[in-house]
Amino acid sequence: MKDRDASDIEITLLLEAVFQKYGYDFTQYSEAHVRRRIMNRMSLSHMNTVSELQNAVLHDELIAAKLLQDLSITVTEMFRDPGFYKSVRENVIPILKTYPFIKIWHAGCSTGEEAYSMAVLLKEEGLYDRTTIYATDFNQQALNQAKEGIFSNEMVKEYTLNYQLSGGQESFAGYYTADSEHVIMNQALKKNIVWANHNLVTDSMFAEVHMILCRNVLIYFDKALQNKVQTLFYESLTNGGILCLGSKESIRFSEVFDAYSELDKKQRIFKKKYKE
Ligand SMILES: C[S@@+](CC[C@H](N)C(=O)[O-])C[C@H]1O[C@@H](n2cnc3c(N)ncnc32)[C@H](O)[C@@H]1O
Repeated sequence: MKDRDASDIEITLLLEAVFQKYGYDFTQYSEAHVRRRIMNRMSLSHMNTVSELQNAVLHDELIAAKLLQDLSITVTEMFRDPGFYKSVRENVIPILKTYPFIKIWHAGCSTGEEAYSMAVLLKEEGLYDRTTIYATDFNQQALNQAKEGIFSNEMVKEYTLNYQLSGGQESFAGYYTADSEHVIMNQALKKNIVWANHNLVTDSMFAEVHMILCRNVLIYFDKALQNKVQTLFYESLTNGGILCLGSKESIRFSEVFDAYSELDKKQRIFKKKYKE
């Protein structure tokens, strides 16, 4: 048997400790991602070995909470990848317009920018009032921020540009009120968004929905876990439902690939085939 590096063994033990003590399962996250984040936490906490970090995580909830934040990368933005939203307007909205009511699931919504972007888009397309948006994440801190809908105004210039590039024709400033440091999203955008804590690894199906968006989340999972989550998405979608992965992710290698047709190859937007 090949000798494993000591730090590999320590990482396995640390992830097991996190799972047993706190119930978060990172054992099937990409090795490179997990290693990078652990090394970063050790360096910030002036620790020399992973075992030292493991000991701290088991006995100090504050360090554990920090490590959970480290492993959950929450980087996001409004109308992130504007070309994606442009494609949703062109290729998906006409399909959604045929439905009497619409349920959309944002899996891994982070601090909410993606769900608010979708609310804006649906409002402009006249669909928001008949839509429920379920926005879920396993990071409660991010969800709390999402619920508030208050963002730093430093990003507004970039978000406004993203919005325009995504095909938005209104004034983006009409969707929020601003103070000297923040923008506060309009109550009207929040009204049909349900925020909920859901872990894609350990929780089961969330709801039956017409559309799922899961962008920039599966890249942190290993292939087996990606495959498992794709099965969860497949089971959660109605016949003809839409799966949006965004340009960085793929289902090409998953077991359910053949069960979808491609609506937009570049933006990785798929439509679930009707079962005979
Ligand atoms: C980089 S953000 C992506 C946010 C947004 N979808 C976007 O594309 O801008 C990744 C999010 O996935 C969440 N995440 C990671 N693992 C998860 C899991 N097992 N269950 C639910 N959410 C998870 C993280 O907490 C984080 O908020």
